[in-house]
Amino acid sequence: MKKISIVGAGRVGETTAATLAQGNLCEEVALLDVRDGAAAGAALDILQSAPYFSFDTRISGDSDSEIINNSDLVIVTAGSPRKPGMSRSDVLDINRKVIDSIVDDVTKFAPDALLLLVSNPVDVLTWHAWKRTGWERNRVFGQAGVLDASRMACFIGMETGYSAKDIHTMVIGGHGDTMVPLFRHTSINGIPAAEFLDAEARQRITRRTCHGGAEVLELRKNSSAYNGPAAAIATMVDAISNNRRRILPCISVLDGEYRQSDVTAGVPVILGRNGIESVIEVDLDESEQAAFEHSIAKIREDLALL
Ligand code: 2OP
Repeated sequence: MKKISIVGAGRVGETTAATLAQGNLCEEVALLDVRDGAAAGAALDILQSAPYFSFDTRISGDSDSEIINNSDLVIVTAGSPRKPGMSRSDVLDINRKVIDSIVDDVTKFAPDALLLLVSNPVDVLTWHAWKRTGWERNRVFGQAGVLDASRMACFIGMETGYSAKDIHTMVIGGHGDTMVPLFRHTSINGIPAAEFLDAEARQRITRRTCHGGAEVLELRKNSSAYNGPAAAIATMVDAISNNRRRILPCISVLDGEYRQSDVTAGVPVILGRNGIESVIEVDLDESEQAAFEHSIAKIREDLALL
């Protein structure tokens, strides 16, 4: 991929820009932030680390929307983060307005781009952004499941003492307390996770995964997570940029899959050069299906507020 723009040079946006550069995942990163100097300062700071990390990615920052001109991919991290005790839905009203103007910039300056939403509540805002673009659904999608699955793997690693590198997890549903970690589709190097984790351990890990973001926020008090989110975004960018066709849980508009329509939700998809190539429908048992439907119902509640 040639040019990736990141809207929002807060902690997630800035850490993502640095991660993309360090991973040599594109030729150019453009950072856009309405706060005067914030994006330019972040860009310069990252550039000054280039000799150490051995990258030559061009990085620039500006408060003028034109900087996203002709991007191949636009990543939206801008918006108001939640404070301790708030849910992601609590920032819907304020962030919807932010997304409206960003989407208008994207359709004007980067009409051929893919659009990756990260701002919260990400499932609802992905739906909103998709509607506003009028684009095909494969081009507008959200980051959540890659991060949630990474958190699940991290907690399984902490619980078992085994390397996180070997742990493959899957989390579907909304990016909130109702997300659905799927232990039946989780393995440690191919060995079903349930062989290492009893029901109580699985419950503990489920609870911790669902509150993985809140746990970081409660500890830090003044900042949500950004290292995990940046790594998750970079994983998606790598899949797109190198057309890897990876199977990753992403927020997709559903059109009949999982018997759901007119809604967005986290589901496994094939991610490649054109964004979401297709949605993968995994078999869900009765309790997984019920949990997934409960999570979808929560997303629909927020969609009704738009
Ligand atoms: C998280 O889960 C902020 O939604 C983001 O950390």
